[in-house]
Amino acid sequence: MSFRDGKQLKETYRRAQSGGYAFMANNVVESNVLLGLLQAYSDASSHLVVQITPGAAKYVGGGDKRAGLRALCRLIHETAEAFPIAVFVNLDHFTVGEMDLIRVAIDERLVSSIMIDASQESFEENVRISREVVGMASGSGILIEAELGKIKGVEDEIASDEALYTDPEEAVEFIRRTGADLLAISIGTQHGVSKGRDIELRIDLAEAIRAELEKNDLDAPLVLHGSSGLLPDQVRDVIRHGVCKLNKDTHYQYAYGRAACSFYLENSEAVLPPEGVEDDVLNLFAGSAWSPDKAVFDPRVVGREIQRQVVVIATELIRQAGSAGSAAAE
Ligand code: G3H
Ligand code: ZN
Repeated sequence: MSFRDGKQLKETYRRAQSGGYAFMANNVVESNVLLGLLQAYSDASSHLVVQITPGAAKYVGGGDKRAGLRALCRLIHETAEAFPIAVFVNLDHFTVGEMDLIRVAIDERLVSSIMIDASQESFEENVRISREVVGMASGSGILIEAELGKIKGVEDEIASDEALYTDPEEAVEFIRRTGADLLAISIGTQHGVSKGRDIELRIDLAEAIRAELEKNDLDAPLVLHGSSGLLPDQVRDVIRHGVCKLNKDTHYQYAYGRAACSFYLENSEAVLPPEGVEDDVLNLFAGSAWSPDKAVFDPRVVGREIQRQVVVIATELIRQAGSAGSAAAE
């Protein structure tokens, strides 16, 4: 299959909701995590949702977010062609400061969905901005996710030192007035390295939000940010109460760092000169009998280790979300 648009993503979430499962939405910023995800999701025959933050676009574009956004999207679109699953791209935590990029993503049909994050603004401003983005995407088929409440912690360029739980009645008014397709809720999760056993997860609130939306005939799947710290039982519970998309970034960042760190610690003698050898990086140790080992320091070697680690993590997360087999069903 390949990169797919918002229409198919809507249908994919609809099936997940009626089937009682969900999708992890996985942040990517480079090809090793992406390739690990593509491998794991293909092995499990699950469709894949990947996401790009403004910071990821900035990093890839060497400071130019627009160039980085286009480059990352094309990398995903092209790479996805070789894998037997649908790959959806979500823009994650795009703010009012990135309206120009949102415009590019819509006009060039680069993505399947976009999260507009105006959760730091007042309720009225949040409604106004989110509604504006819904209007921009109108007719494109691209889904819009908007957030109500505040998630504590740091995610990329968004930081909040307070948590503000989502109010169920406000959620109804918010979805009604914005027309957003997906609702990101705040029920106690945190961005960054958080420990599930320590957070005060309000499953009851997810249930109440879902019930209020349903009572008012509003069909907006719930999204949970800051999901990396959740324990498997907590994942199961939030899915049972209407969460259809769980965002994961920190988990893969750690997988990357852990794999690279272990690899270089185990292979340091092939990369670093031994004691007594002049540290002559510039001339590749021309004056010494010792040479670094290209079979080790070639970045693709550590890259494959990172991919393997991502496969391990992603395989477990697919199991927790219950999305295995979703690609085979089509
Ligand atoms: O938008 C991305 C996610 O909310 C990241 O959450 O820090 O728990 O991985 P995480
Ligand atoms: Zn988030």
